[in-house]
Amino acid sequence: QIFTFPDVAALSQGLDTYVAKLSAEAIHRHGKFTVAISGGSLPKQLAAVLKHNKSVDFSNWIVYFADERCVPLDHEDSNYLLAKTELFDYVNIPQENIHTIDPDLVSDPEEAAEDYISQLAKTFATKDSVRFPVFDLILLGVGPDGHTCSLFPGHALLKEATNWCAYITDSPKPPSERITLTFPVLNHAHHVAFVAAGAGKQDMLHQLLDTPGHLPAQMVKPVTGTLSWFVDDAAAAKITST
Ligand code: 6PG
Repeated sequence: QIFTFPDVAALSQGLDTYVAKLSAEAIHRHGKFTVAISGGSLPKQLAAVLKHNKSVDFSNWIVYFADERCVPLDHEDSNYLLAKTELFDYVNIPQENIHTIDPDLVSDPEEAAEDYISQLAKTFATKDSVRFPVFDLILLGVGPDGHTCSLFPGHALLKEATNWCAYITDSPKPPSERITLTFPVLNHAHHVAFVAAGAGKQDMLHQLLDTPGHLPAQMVKPVTGTLSWFVDDAAAAKITST
């Protein structure tokens, strides 16, 4: 499903309505809202309206990062710092519910990914009792090359079929060392939403949505969950399919 909005302000309004609804439903259903957030422009687009929404029960949010750069949490490249500045500083998500990369492991991406799997296992039961974590919502961005999370075109990680979180040391988008959720996790979520705004995304959105292919963003195909796109008119300008 593709939702288009005249501009980024309207898109943030639409995202607020969507996320607030899914949050309320999940908390009603199982007492918590498990959500994974990407970096890039997404945290700002997500938070613009949501951070003022007093009806959202942020105290029951459990937050992970769809991908994270292997840098200290106060580094300007940190997705955590970005999300903190845009959203966490304004709402009452308990600090222990915000799952960051272990700051002591940022120099060892492999260990950092292993640790992140352990954190996921604590939230989503044990590694042995569930095949994959099932997030209530995963929020994704898309890069000009069709990457999403830190899953880049042609990279071996696209074939990862068992690990919940993986590491990459050769990311074409700097910084090169990152950890990322893998496709099986993305595709087991209840809901996955891409967010893309601006004319710079026109060509890639046209390619992703109008032409069958195997770019990373096209490999996001939830098994039973929903897949939505939140785009502004500028990004949607060249999309021909409905
Ligand atoms: C990251 C991201 C990445 C991002 C896309 C889109 O940490 O780099 O999670 O996957 O979502 O590159 O970024 P923009 O929204 O800034 O274009």
